[in-house]
Amino acid sequence: MEPKLQVALDNISLKSAMESIREIGHIIDVIEVGTILHVAEGLEPVRCLRALYPEKIILADIKGADAGSLLAKQCYGAGANWMTVICCAEIPTMAGMLNVAKEFGEDRDVQIELYGDWTWEQAQKWKEAGLKQVVYHRSRDAQAAGKSWGSEDLEKIGRLCDMGFKITVTGGLTVEDIKLFKDYPIYCFIAGRSIRDAESPEQAAKSFKAEIKKYWS
Ligand code: 5RP
Ligand code: MG
Repeated sequence: MEPKLQVALDNISLKSAMESIREIGHIIDVIEVGTILHVAEGLEPVRCLRALYPEKIILADIKGADAGSLLAKQCYGAGANWMTVICCAEIPTMAGMLNVAKEFGEDRDVQIELYGDWTWEQAQKWKEAGLKQVVYHRSRDAQAAGKSWGSEDLEKIGRLCDMGFKITVTGGLTVEDIKLFKDYPIYCFIAGRSIRDAESPEQAAKSFKAEIKKYWS
């Protein structure tokens, strides 16, 4: 299956996020309300985007760490299909989100955001708790410190795929990076700055889509 393209709206205002999405909303598969936008504007961007794009998958990237069911009721209630939980959260937090997702409907889900240290034992517990989606993330700060994609990342991605997780890859992705992952059944690629900050965001989103099609169709 061809990986989806998700665009992260890590804008610092709703107005600027709306300007970004207007140019690319018709091209991409998943609209992410980025953590940065959530901090700036709460869940209002989710409500606005749901009204504007009733058919699109909308992700609330809140990187929740506790109070799973309470956070989930708010994210799904605002219209998000997916929400994120940080990998160091406890299993009851993740399970709480997942239970609320099921109450809201089959199109709701939880993505675990992998940051920093996590273990294969934890990954096994996520699986046993029914979590299906994992986001393999190179953090902005790691990228800024010079960390590039390498064989260690690919090995971990491969092992997570073998465990049966749907894997999303993100973290300063460029069109040129996409081919690095061509041997894996990636579920979704997330790009933020490479698309939002491009001279033509529309052209950048199209280039990502074409590159994905080149390797997975
Ligand atoms: C950072 C994020 C970003 O949304 C994600 O990394 C995509 O943005 P970019 O392509 O600009 O790195 O969750 O924590
Ligand atoms: Mg994000």
